[in-house]
Amino acid sequence: MEWWSAAGWLTTGVAALAAVFLYYEYKFSYWRRRGVPHPRPVPVLGNFEPLQLGRKNFAQGLVDQALPFRERGFCGLYQFGQPMLLVWDPEMAKQVLCKDFAAFHDRGVPVDERDPLTWRNLRNRLSPTFTSGKLKLMLPLMRDVGQELSAAVVAASSAADAEEVEIDTLLFRYATDVIGTVAFGIQCNSLRDQGDQFLAMSRQVLNQSPAQLARLVLEAIHPRLGRLLPYKWIVSNVHDFFLGLVRDTVKHREENKVVRNDFVQLLMQLRDQELAQADPDKHIALTPGVMAAQSFIFFVAGLDNISNTVSFCLSRLAADTGLQDRVAAEVRDVLHQHGGELSYETLKKMDLLNRTVLEGLRLWSPIGLIIRQCNAPTQVGGVLVDKGVPVVILADVMHSDENLFPEPKRFDPDRHTAEARAQRHPYAFLPFGEGPRVCIAERLALLEMRLALATLLRDFAFAVGPGYEDEVQLDPKAFFPRPKNGFKLRVLVRCAPSGSPD
Ligand code: HEM
Repeated sequence: MEWWSAAGWLTTGVAALAAVFLYYEYKFSYWRRRGVPHPRPVPVLGNFEPLQLGRKNFAQGLVDQALPFRERGFCGLYQFGQPMLLVWDPEMAKQVLCKDFAAFHDRGVPVDERDPLTWRNLRNRLSPTFTSGKLKLMLPLMRDVGQELSAAVVAASSAADAEEVEIDTLLFRYATDVIGTVAFGIQCNSLRDQGDQFLAMSRQVLNQSPAQLARLVLEAIHPRLGRLLPYKWIVSNVHDFFLGLVRDTVKHREENKVVRNDFVQLLMQLRDQELAQADPDKHIALTPGVMAAQSFIFFVAGLDNISNTVSFCLSRLAADTGLQDRVAAEVRDVLHQHGGELSYETLKKMDLLNRTVLEGLRLWSPIGLIIRQCNAPTQVGGVLVDKGVPVVILADVMHSDENLFPEPKRFDPDRHTAEARAQRHPYAFLPFGEGPRVCIAERLALLEMRLALATLLRDFAFAVGPGYEDEVQLDPKAFFPRPKNGFKLRVLVRCAPSGSPD
């Protein structure tokens, strides 16, 4: 009897395993049946395993899976049983991001669970924050932070044992203070006060915690499972911090009639305008919670991206002193000819500096991938994409394609002259995404990076030291690309940081 029951259990177990095996075999034939090339999936996990076990940075993991199919311009992939399409053909990217936007308007990403109507509604209302007029008003606030940055670099480089300066740490503080002042209307002073709470919060959000990883894994198995670990819960103290901050700021301004040229002010104005005429079905009220959520997204989006890109540019300039001298000379010349102030207009005139930032974004794309979820069957190039299939545009693969960018590893700002741009596909360079969901703060981000780079090259010269890496190693635990060992550089003071150009 016992023998039979053991055999019964064994048979049931084998049958269950066989059923799981056959289920995944069928699931993993999805791309083969459609003639789409794909890396070989491993049982159950699909192609997910190497990406999520903390061994590889997320974006880099996807790129590595795509590279064997580089010539094709696209490939399939499996996140557990969920098929997804990776795309790096510029024409297919154009179709997904722009031409067929109606079928790809959503990201299907956990942080952004709003429906398209509310997203569009908010986006349309928030876009005016980033017009050139608004940015011009914000620039003096940012320039003050730039001065603090210079002072912090002087302090760090003159510290007794400082052979090199951790430039990315200082730039992260710069980005924190800029977002603090332009988005929240508060002075974080993290460049001066190293223990600032803002800094602690941003680090907490940007590090991939075990709970965040668990949520990603659950999401990958099934989107509904991901909701068992709500994002708000994972970052609950961060969420409370932001909510409290925005509530207090709004209250303080209302009570004291304070007006400031920043994002919170714009949200308050929006809240007070036109609400009566708005269609209640399509409109979301700007409650403190909605305002906090928006400010929070800005905070997450605007730190590492900025600090790592500028650090990367500086490290490449440190390695190419001829180029560094040319960019620094341009900064000083423009300032010399136009009254010495880093203004919106003078920064615009620094053409080589601007192209240097763009080249930094090519070789160091802070996001590197653009995600869309298909909501109606659509033919993209040669592939019929089904409803529910995520499409990931791998900007990193385009940016390192030698057909689009010859000698792709070489840092060369001349790739971004008007003539060079005219010769390649307009969707071959996508650091900010494209189409109706392009990065809402592209202009702010570019301005902020140019300002930091111009300030630093005006005041300092940079050289490589023992910490320089020709191939930057990525931190496998960070979701977005982050250098594993930071960016360390030797610094030489060119002129007094408060200083006018020589
Ligand atoms: C170097 C800096 C930055 C880079 C490379 C960057 C890149 C991107 C990319 C690739 C996207 C996705 C675009 C798409 O899906 O088509 C995005 C979206 C977004 N970014 Fe940025 N970003 C940067 C800085 C910022 C900053 C400073 C902020 C805010 C102050 C910001 C706010 C946003 C927001 C709110 C979205 C979502 C837009 C939407 O869904 O409508 N970004 N960004």
